[in-house]
Amino acid sequence: MADSNQKPTALDIKPATGKLGVLTPGVGAVASTFIAGVLAARAGLVKPVGSVSQTAHIRLGTREEDRNPLIRDFAPLASLDDLVFGGWDPVSNNALEAAKHAGVLEGDDLSEISAELEGIVAMDAVFDQKWVKRLDGKRVKDLDSKWDQAMALIDDIQRFSTENECDRMVMVWCGSTEAFQTPSECHQTAEAFEAGLKANDDNISPSQIYAYAALQSGVPFANGAPNLSVDLPCMVELSRSLGVPIAGKDFKTGQTLMKTLLAPGLKARMLGLRGWFSTNILGNRDGEVLDDPDNFKTKEESKLGVIGTILQPEVYPELYGNIDHVVRINYYPPRGDNKEGWDAIDIFGWMNYPMEIKIDFLCRDSILAAPLVLDLALFMDLAARAGQNDVQEWLSFYFKAPQSRGEVEAEHDLFIQQTKLKNTIREWMGEKPVTHSEAG
Ligand SMILES: NC(=O)c1ccc[n+]([C@@H]2O[C@H](COP(=O)([O-])OP(=O)(O)OC[C@H]3O[C@@H](n4cnc5c(N)ncnc54)[C@H](O)[C@@H]3O)[C@@H](O)[C@H]2O)c1
Repeated sequence: MADSNQKPTALDIKPATGKLGVLTPGVGAVASTFIAGVLAARAGLVKPVGSVSQTAHIRLGTREEDRNPLIRDFAPLASLDDLVFGGWDPVSNNALEAAKHAGVLEGDDLSEISAELEGIVAMDAVFDQKWVKRLDGKRVKDLDSKWDQAMALIDDIQRFSTENECDRMVMVWCGSTEAFQTPSECHQTAEAFEAGLKANDDNISPSQIYAYAALQSGVPFANGAPNLSVDLPCMVELSRSLGVPIAGKDFKTGQTLMKTLLAPGLKARMLGLRGWFSTNILGNRDGEVLDDPDNFKTKEESKLGVIGTILQPEVYPELYGNIDHVVRINYYPPRGDNKEGWDAIDIFGWMNYPMEIKIDFLCRDSILAAPLVLDLALFMDLAARAGQNDVQEWLSFYFKAPQSRGEVEAEHDLFIQQTKLKNTIREWMGEKPVTHSEAG
């Protein structure tokens, strides 16, 4: 029988030497806020608040051992000083222009890093207005064939790597949400997808072409938006055969973050839920894109999945078998990136007496999303150096609609996701997982 006191064997993780290129298709509000924050942090101007990889500690062994290092001191993550940034965008010229347009950060916070931000020039995008009706792309690759577009992106990645002397790269999709779609024939196998690229199959969206180019270049791909991108059998196949990690989808920020904080608590206390009405006003470019019904549908699907899997209505039909869950986003320009999200939650308790919870979250979308881009970039790079491929379920913590391996449903409970994230790091580093069962 296996000795439960024995530590797992540490993985052979390659060291994080040299530069890590972080490529973002989409240099908009989230990407520019992420880059600005990293530049400011490494200039000593701010602390990377909200980044688990930079600020969270990880307990090792039993509580008596009193070992609690920072994650970044325990696992061999790339240092912020070694990151170089690049991206593609059909609208923004560079990261400074994107930051100014987004209006997330104040002028004072941009002034000391403006030259560096301006130097991050967006490459011409693979873009098709069919997928994002509200955007009119100007800086777009002049290539009609999807296969040629993929090859051009592969060339971009190679050129970026050479010019910036990168040791490794990761890609995090920070582009607009694409119109809703379900997988089709060309997404079933890598061979069908390549044939589809060559035949200009209508079902292949730009984000899938980026994902293909990343995987073919050995670059891990994480998807911050709800479009399918790597959540497709062909991409999972490529991830496995080429040995490149993938993760997605849709950054878990704002209202959904609140949902996955609160719903596990209601369930832990076995309080019933009758309805959850969520509405938002949002005035940035993302809000404008999502104002189109096709693009909103992609987001809606991603937001609606959360409650069911946490509350397990099939296990607790009396408590959670009859929930009205409604999600709305309204584009309202005066608010810019400062989203306001309201939740009206109808719960019930002892003897079915109803109660109400109201949330009014005045959040800043990109301020919540930026540290997630950093963590995903660093953890995806760690996974690659640890020889991992396929879907990185341990990074579900960061996603609204986490991609899972195989047929099992993804976990949405933020606290289970956090345990999985930390235990994965512990095990890869040869430490026992922490179950908290030793607590008295
Ligand atoms: N901010 C959040 O809290 C949050 C949370 C979850 C998901 N997201 C998603 O992250 C993405 C980025 O959000 P944002 O607020 O930065 O939006 P944004 O509109 O400011 O930036 C998106 C950028 O992507 C560019 N783009 C569109 N199609 C592209 C293509 N084919 N190739 C390259 N670039 C392309 C746009 O020109 C734009 O500059 C959106 O899909 C959004 O839904 C954001």
